Amino acid sequence: MEAKVINGKELSMELKEEMKQEVKDLRKKNVIPHLSVVLVGNDAASRSYVNGKKRASEEVGISSEIIELPESISEKELLDIIQKLNQNEQVHGILVQLPLPKQINVQHIIETIDPRKDVDGFHPVNIGRMMTGQDTFLPCTPYGIIKMLQSKNISIEGKHAVILGRSNIVGKPVGQLLLNEHATVTYCHSRTKNVKDITKQADILVVAIGSPNIISKEYIKEGAVVIDVGINRIEDGKLTGDVDFDSAKEVASYITPVPRGVGPMTITMLLYNTLKAAKERVL
Ligand code: GUN
Repeated sequence: MEAKVINGKELSMELKEEMKQEVKDLRKKNVIPHLSVVLVGNDAASRSYVNGKKRASEEVGISSEIIELPESISEKELLDIIQKLNQNEQVHGILVQLPLPKQINVQHIIETIDPRKDVDGFHPVNIGRMMTGQDTFLPCTPYGIIKMLQSKNISIEGKHAVILGRSNIVGKPVGQLLLNEHATVTYCHSRTKNVKDITKQADILVVAIGSPNIISKEYIKEGAVVIDVGINRIEDGKLTGDVDFDSAKEVASYITPVPRGVGPMTITMLLYNTLKAAKERVL
C-alpha cells in the first residue's frame, strides 16, 4: 500500500490559525509579540529562509524585523547588537540565522543570546533543559517533526527511531525529543558502518543529511514512518529532499514530502516559540 503523506504545509496553516487568535489576545493586553531576525552576509538560501520567517510572522500578527549586517562584521560588533536586543523590552525573540562568516565564533553568539529570548532553542541552557525534559524553547525543526507525528496519531513510545545525521540543529535534538517521547533511538552518521542494516530496523526514520534523494526504499522497512528533513536545490532550481520520495512511498506507511513537509513546520514552530516568549513576559 502506498504511504500516506504528512502535509506540513496544511498542518502549519492550522497551527497558524490558532496562533492568530492568541496574538490578538496578547495585543489586547498591549503586548505585541516581536521577533528580531539577524542576517549576516548575502547567502541566497539564508536570505530566502529569513524572508520566509518574516512573512510567516506577519501572517499571524507577530511583529518582526530583519537586521541585515555585512559579511565583514566583527564578532564584537555582532555581540554588541545581540546585547542591545537582549536589553530591549519590546523584543521577545532573537534569531541569528546560521551559518555565520568564519571570523565569527558561532558558539559565542549563541551563548550571548538571552536564553529567555532564544526562540531557536540553541542556547546550552535550553538544550540542557530539553535533555532533562523541562519546559523550554524546543529547537524548531525537531519540534515540528514531533508535531507532525502527533497530528497523525503516530505513537512514538517503544518505537525504534533511527536518525540519519547528527547536526546540533536537527539530528541530535530530534533524537533527544523522540527519546523524551520514549522511543529507542539510534543515530547514524558519516562514520557509521552498515547504515542500511540499521535504517532497515527503523519504525521511524528521520533523514537529515543534506544529499538529494539519497535514501530509497532499500533503506526502509515496510510500514516505517519516513521524515525527510533535507532541502536540496537541484539543477533545474527545484527543491528536493534527502529521500527519493517516489521510491520510499512504495514501502513507508507515512512520509513527509519536500516541499510542503518539514520546512513549513520549522517556521511555524519558530512563531510558536516567539509567542511563548511573549506570553511569558506577561506572566
Ligand atoms: N540555519 C538553518 N536552519 C536554521 C535554524 O533553524 N535557525 C537558524 N538560526 N539558522 C538556521
